Amino acid sequence: MLSFATSELTRAGVDTSELDAELLLAHALGVQRAWLLAHPEHPLSPQQETTFRALLARRAAREPLAYITGRRWFYDIELYISPQTLIPRPETEELVERALGWLQKRPRAIAADIGAGSGAIALVLAKHAPPDACIYATDISAGALEVARQNARRLGLSHRVIFLQGDLLTPLPQPVDLLLANLPYVAQRDAATLAPEVAQYEPAQALFGGPAGLDLIERLIAQAPSRLRPHGVILLEIGHDQGRAVMALARRQFPRARIRIHKDLSGRDRILEITSAS
Ligand SMILES: C[S@@+](CC[C@H](N)C(=O)[O-])C[C@H]1O[C@@H](n2cnc3c(N)ncnc32)[C@H](O)[C@@H]1O
Repeated sequence: MLSFATSELTRAGVDTSELDAELLLAHALGVQRAWLLAHPEHPLSPQQETTFRALLARRAAREPLAYITGRRWFYDIELYISPQTLIPRPETEELVERALGWLQKRPRAIAADIGAGSGAIALVLAKHAPPDACIYATDISAGALEVARQNARRLGLSHRVIFLQGDLLTPLPQPVDLLLANLPYVAQRDAATLAPEVAQYEPAQALFGGPAGLDLIERLIAQAPSRLRPHGVILLEIGHDQGRAVMALARRQFPRARIRIHKDLSGRDRILEITSAS
């Protein structure tokens, strides 16, 4: 079954066909992947084979694995994922690391994750930030916020996060010390270059940021001066080719701030950091 599934997925253009075949079969059988590899002789029952073939057909149609299994690990939490939410990416863990490092030094800080999606960023903060830190999670999408709330409940973190629906910073009831966001930043003109998993299945509202991808980032930076407490920090995930543009946007709104672009592990622009001077 595994070699059949691997060749089906390869034929469909899936890069990680062998891994995905194993993960789908493990999901169909309700076992860990390690169990599968340790029991290659295990025969599938007709019911298990039917279930597996149905999952395989979905993946062969390039539906992302995380939407099929409904789960995705991010940092050290397992999130429930639905097609209403972006699938969290490993690059975003670098944003979380920086936010956690900053919060350790400001244990009573107020933080806000804008565009929370599945809750990936806010919930890792909720798990690891000092207990007196206050954490808001906002999203414009009611469906995404519902998934984030469910994730908070499943992880026992509901009491640590305040969920708010609305456009960018407007739902925040007070200025905050730390604004962080992985907003949609794909340029509309790049839509044709996206993999089918992204273009056909992930919500457009979670991906696209206007013609150059910068519309939401620009609007958030414009709203930020009045929503940031003195000496506050903004951490935004950006596209690998957006460093110069976001630097200019940040400089215009925060002329006296310290502004930096951090690169990701592959050496590409990934995070904009603004430390407000007052
Ligand atoms: C790239 S996804 C990030 C999701 C999650 N933070 C993560 O890193 O996996 C962007 C999120 O921003 C939300 N969003 C889009 N436009 C928004 C707006 N104007 N105000 C607030 N959230 C918005 C989308 O619904 C989506 O959940």
